Amino acid sequence: MKSITLFLLLQGLALVQPSGAEADEVTYTTRIKQIVDAQCIGCHGADSPEYHEFKANMRKYEQSSKGPRMDSYTYLIYFIGWPDSGAIMRRLDDGKNTKEGRPGNMFKYLGSTEEERQKNLSLFREWVGNWTLKRWADITKEEMTGIKVAY
Ligand code: HEC
Repeated sequence: MKSITLFLLLQGLALVQPSGAEADEVTYTTRIKQIVDAQCIGCHGADSPEYHEFKANMRKYEQSSKGPRMDSYTYLIYFIGWPDSGAIMRRLDDGKNTKEGRPGNMFKYLGSTEEERQKNLSLFREWVGNWTLKRWADITKEEMTGIKVAY
């Protein structure tokens, strides 16, 4: 009887305190997808082209305010790890890591207020892990290994 009470008590604790680090981890499904859905897919959604199609006809797509498609985990990480390494980081950075100190040109879409932009940027930074703005030609294997992007 005593052990059952203890068991139930521990179960109750487990429910109110989900195990530390894991519960707080920023993942695509828990935090990032909702930001992308709200702030990005208007121009990077299902009716946007694949990256290579976008590059081949960039002018045409830019005229209709379409960027390359990023509406799933698989599409999105293309712009983080490989082949368009660091694109998300270069475009979303607030200027603290860019050479000229200017924000990337997609930073403004992270939110309607500076507070919201900074909040969403820090979620992206945490999700990516190693926030490097380097391209494929310059990134090292160690820097690449630091990229987390948990699903
Ligand atoms: C109003 C439309 C619009 C919104 C909203 C928007 N983008 Fe873009 N994005 C574009 C266009 C158009 C381009 C292509 C032109 C350019 O490179 O600047 C682009 C380019 C990009 C690129 C570079 C792709 C490449 O060529 O390598 C990234 C990365 C990116 N956007 C990320 C985002 C993220 C993340 C969000 C949401 C926080 C977002 N964008 C919101 C229109 C938009």
